Amino acid sequence: MARIDNTVIVKTPPFKIQGIKTKLVPCIHQLVEQETFDCWIEPFMGSGVVAFNIKPKKAILADSNPYIIDFYNSLKNGSIDELMVCNFLEQEGEQLKEQDDAYYYTVRERFNREHNPLDFLFLNRSCFNGMVRFNRNGDFNVPYGHKPERFSKSYITKICNQVKYVKNIIMDNDFTFLCQDFTETINSATSNSIVYCDPPYIGRHVDYFDSWDGNNEVTLHDVLNDASTKFILSTWKQTKFRENEYIPKLWNNYNIKTTEHFYFVGAKESNRNSVIEALIYNF
Ligand SMILES: C[S@@+](CC[C@H](N)C(=O)[O-])C[C@H]1O[C@@H](n2cnc3c(N)ncnc32)[C@H](O)[C@@H]1O
Repeated sequence: MARIDNTVIVKTPPFKIQGIKTKLVPCIHQLVEQETFDCWIEPFMGSGVVAFNIKPKKAILADSNPYIIDFYNSLKNGSIDELMVCNFLEQEGEQLKEQDDAYYYTVRERFNREHNPLDFLFLNRSCFNGMVRFNRNGDFNVPYGHKPERFSKSYITKICNQVKYVKNIIMDNDFTFLCQDFTETINSATSNSIVYCDPPYIGRHVDYFDSWDGNNEVTLHDVLNDASTKFILSTWKQTKFRENEYIPKLWNNYNIKTTEHFYFVGAKESNRNSVIEALIYNF
């Protein structure tokens, strides 16, 4: 990863997702830069921002959301590239400009019928807050994120550059994308791997493809504890209002590194809340 004056430059991938770890990449990078490992494994890849910045020679990136995995596999096998993305977003962006909200919902219905990876990217980059959320039937249900020129020329260029950036990393290295449960991914880890886990935060976010409860957190602890691999877990430690009860219950025997992260609720700067993020690791 490039550094200028000790600042790590973090590249963002084409997808957005709630809980994306763009701001934590420098901390994770610092934690692993002296470590040797054969394979970087992420059982909860989400946007992939961590792996695409660590840029390991070999990576196994998995998620229970089949559409993220399908997009990256399509990029890997060449059925999608940045030029196609550019043409698609220009064409669909024009329709959105003409028909406004109605067109967003047309694409959303089409995606829920056909599951085209380009539609998934279109929705991800035009929905409310770049959220990824599905209803009980497995249908994507995030509303439109209204903006006057949703797919402006510069926005499309930015997305296409992000697609090109991740495509080059996938092509230059040995990256595997798998749609599977986290237990299967962690159980396949060898002793020369580093497993970076970023599950939905227990007690905070449950809006992903799958929900996340106390049983999942205990299972995650047990499989990581039994695996003979190095691991890092992202979780939250505390907010102004409460503490994560699972840290003393499950994770106290490991190393813990914390950082404060500020986020805004609404538009006002005064509505600033902080969360202490924790990186828990066993090396
Ligand atoms: C916090 S997000 C990961 C964000 C990612 N680190 C990033 O920076 O973009 C959690 C991810 O876990 C996935 N997930 C939820 N339950 C899962 C499960 N049982 N097995 C595998 N992945 C799961 C969700 O689909 C979501 O993409």
